[in-house]
Order: sequence, then C-alpha cells, then structure tokens
Amino acid sequence: MKLLDGKLTSEQIKEELAQEVAILKSQNKRAPHLAAVLVGTDGASLTYVNSKVKSCEKIGFGSTLIQLEETVSENELLKVIEDLNNNPVIDGFIVQLPLPKHIDDQKVLMTINPDKDVDGFHPTNFGRMALELPAFIPATPYGILELLERYQIETSGKNVVVIGRSHIVGRPMSILLSQKRTVGDATVTLAHSKTRNLTSLTKQADIIVAALGIAEFLKGDMVKDGVVIIDVGITRINDTSKKSGFRLAGDVHFESVAAKASYITPVPGGVGPMTIAMLLKNTLLAYHRK
Ligand code: GUN
Repeated sequence: MKLLDGKLTSEQIKEELAQEVAILKSQNKRAPHLAAVLVGTDGASLTYVNSKVKSCEKIGFGSTLIQLEETVSENELLKVIEDLNNNPVIDGFIVQLPLPKHIDDQKVLMTINPDKDVDGFHPTNFGRMALELPAFIPATPYGILELLERYQIETSGKNVVVIGRSHIVGRPMSILLSQKRTVGDATVTLAHSKTRNLTSLTKQADIIVAALGIAEFLKGDMVKDGVVIIDVGITRINDTSKKSGFRLAGDVHFESVAAKASYITPVPGGVGPMTIAMLLKNTLLAYHRK
C-alpha cells in the first residue's frame, strides 16, 4: 500500500504557484488576490477558510477574509457579493458552504460573477465543465484529478465508483472522470443513499472515491485487492485522549481498507490540502483570464 500524499503534493503545487507569483512581482505586476466570505462561526468552516487565507499569504497572493454574522440577511450577503464582483483588485472569491438555513445557497452562488467563481459552483462554470469547455473546475474534484495524475494512476478504461452525489464533489467528479481527458476515460458509477447492493459495485471497482460524509463507512470487506482509494470525507469524532477533544476520520475505515488497497489517501493530509492548492490554481487562472 502506498499513501497518496496530498500534503506533500499540495506543497509542490504551492511552490510552483509561488514561483509564478515571484515572476509576476519581478515584472512589477500585482499579485493575484483571493477573497473568502464566511458566514457564522462554525468551527470546521472557520478552520478551512483560515487555511485558504494562510496559503494565499504563503505563496504571495493577496487575500481578504470577510466574516459575517450568522444572522446576516440574504440581501446583505448578496450586496457583499456584488461588491466583490465589482472590485477590480479581487480576481476570485468563494463563499464558504454550508450557509445558514435562512439563506438560499443557489441564489447566492448564482450572484457570483462566473469569471470570479474560483470554486466553479456557478451554473455557467458547472455547465462549461460538463461540456468540456474552459471552466473553473471545483477545487476538490480538480485536486483529486491532479493527485491521480501526479501519482501516474491509470484511469482509462477503469471501473470507478463515486459514492455521494453532492454538487461540490461527487457529481462533478463522476462527470470529469468519464470525460476524454488525461485523467479520465473511466467507466463511472455514481452511487448514493438509494443505491442497492453497493458492496457488489465497490467490490468491482478499480478506483473508489468516497464522498458521502459518513465517517468510516467504507470497510475492507467492501473492496477488492489492489483498489485505489480516494477519501474525501472529514468528520470530527469526539476523542478524549486528544488535546483538541476530537480526532478526524474520513469516509473510509482506514485500517481495514488500507490493508487491501494499492494506493490510499490519508485523512487528514490527503484530499483536503489538494482542495486548497487547486483553489489557488484557479485564482491564478482567474487573474490571467482578466
Ligand atoms: N464547503 C466544503 N467544501 C467547500 C468548498 O470547496 N468551497 C466552499 N466554498 N465551501 C465548501
């Protein structure tokens, strides 16, 4: 079993991006700038957004964090988005999900200018992605493609099972891996909560992307020997033996699945850091497209 080291790979990508920023600065050009909007004080979201902002600083990007109260109205949030759309210094921005229940996610995402939508969540970008036109690819699936490419894992003709049909990960992942592209040409099954006989599908899979959001769901007896495992899940589980009071678990029962896998992403240190690296890559793309 080999680890697909997302931490190391993301560091390499960030180093490549930092070199590009250094070149821009040597030409007296301004650096790319990413903004993030966070509504409320959810611990996990705050951690993610902070690491996005910190990564910007590390590679020389400009960054802005806009924190809004949990009680902010939808209209106030839409006004913040309009301001970011119109701000020439901001190349790209994201609105961290999930949003409070009184705010309509789709309405918010559709207000983002597609040219600044570095998360790739706007219908224009999602549609362009699905049609194989130039688009911002959502950072998590994009990071998974990059990880598979850099570890030279063959996907052409392989059976892939994606578990979970979210708009952010499972759905775009299933589309991308089925496309004619460097990492693609796979036969993809998109499984979800209503799928019958999931184990009969996962046992035939050469590659499994687990993105359903249930801690340690995929067990060793559900996979075949030599399978490649991409674990997108990240759940906090109470653990009094830890200083923080919790440990992080993926959607994969690591111990039993790793014993059979040829490659597996760890949690943490797998898909998570890749997501951040690809968000930065999308921001550089937005900067150049301007
Ligand atoms: N919440 C969980 N993942 C993501 C992501 O990639 N982008 C945003 N904006 N919110 C998220």
